[in-house]
Amino acid sequence: MKKLLIHGPARLAGTISSSGAKNAALPLLAASLLAEEEVELHNVPQVQDIRTMLRLLEHLGVENEQLGDTVLLRPTGRASPDEAPYELVKTMRASVLALGPLLARRGHARVSLPGGCAIGVRPIDLHLSGLEALGAAVELQHGYVEARARRLVGGRFRFSTPTVGGTENLLMAASLARGTTVLENCAREPEIVDLARMLSAMGAVIEGAGEETITIEGQDSLGGAHHSVIPDRIQDGTYLIAAAMTRGDVLVEGARPADLAPLLEKLDEIGALVETTDRGIRLRHEGEIRPRGIVTEPFPGFPTDLQAQYMALMTQAKGSSTVVETVFENRFQHVLELVRMGADIRIDGSYARVHGPAQLSGASVMATDLRASASLVLAGLVAEGETRVHRIYHLDRGYERMESKLQKLGARVERID
Ligand code: EPZ
Repeated sequence: MKKLLIHGPARLAGTISSSGAKNAALPLLAASLLAEEEVELHNVPQVQDIRTMLRLLEHLGVENEQLGDTVLLRPTGRASPDEAPYELVKTMRASVLALGPLLARRGHARVSLPGGCAIGVRPIDLHLSGLEALGAAVELQHGYVEARARRLVGGRFRFSTPTVGGTENLLMAASLARGTTVLENCAREPEIVDLARMLSAMGAVIEGAGEETITIEGQDSLGGAHHSVIPDRIQDGTYLIAAAMTRGDVLVEGARPADLAPLLEKLDEIGALVETTDRGIRLRHEGEIRPRGIVTEPFPGFPTDLQAQYMALMTQAKGSSTVVETVFENRFQHVLELVRMGADIRIDGSYARVHGPAQLSGASVMATDLRASASLVLAGLVAEGETRVHRIYHLDRGYERMESKLQKLGARVERID
């Protein structure tokens, strides 16, 4: 198995470019199931989850061709299965995003239930009750969700808690429903806005994406689109945190300040110099890091997907800080590994108390999920000596060429077998 070998400590300096957002590209790819014509998607990141989604689409009858970061998706018209099998869903939960579009377009969908995952239980009950509100008959059998509806009918649905995937599934399904759908208490993440933009280019009529209430006028059919995926705010945020941690000077070209506002506010509070320009975001830091707590929340709150990386940063702050995780139940698995590297962190339920600055020392550490892996890489950058991050297939699911970006910034990082 591949590992990342990091020789620390490092000071990151230089310029890197933003990659396309995995969590935006995944629903955009799923939306191609709704199209009757070709969809051309640009700025698609070359990461493992995208390859898995392309395999699923191929299986579901959408031919795809990849030319660098552009993906062409064509409906084949031949009879194809309406089923997302366990083998694919178990490696990537986002396969569940096929449910809404398949059902809306073909009247039937069978998708394996994703089950729990390393960071929490992650049910899909709200995706299902939302589809029921649009007239679908939903059954759970043999570990699969089976949904049917000759034609979905617009309706009103309120999410009891904002869900990113649930909002995306419903947005796609409602775009082909008969009549008007009103979705309330929707997730407001930038990835939702990006999906609505592409659906609109395909002919959907959507109002309010990025707000709590979204209204969708369903259409009889949707065409193709040319669309460019938004920059990945989580990857960009990870490199900005790395710059602060290593007392570096890094410009992330293409990064969008509005998408990263809650992180930028914290980076400013800890004493870093954050400059937002037309080109992107530049962060410089020297001297002490001030401790500042965070509470993860749905957008526009502090993103859970940057919690682990921010905690690695707080191990270098002078004093105590609290990190509270409110989105997922089990997203502190990086803590034990950070402690093995010398961090002083105590957990009490969803609270973590970090005391710093800790002199981290390089160690062999085990990645448990995508963002936890990123936090271990960041810790490795400031640790004395050699850090080996095992199981980096987690990292490869969502970070595009991480080691080459870090190398470009002057870090000594290599991938070894
Ligand atoms: C998306 O997951 C992201 N994945 C996650 O990124 C991200 O952590 C998460 O949103 C929150 O921002 C993709 O976009 C592919 P949710 P999703 O539904 O859609 C509960 C990463 O590292 N919930 O917004 O699955 C759920 O259990 C990943 O890139 C229900 O109770 O997240 C959680 O507590 C990991 N019932 C909360 O809502 C439901 O039906 C938010 O989950 C659905 C969700």
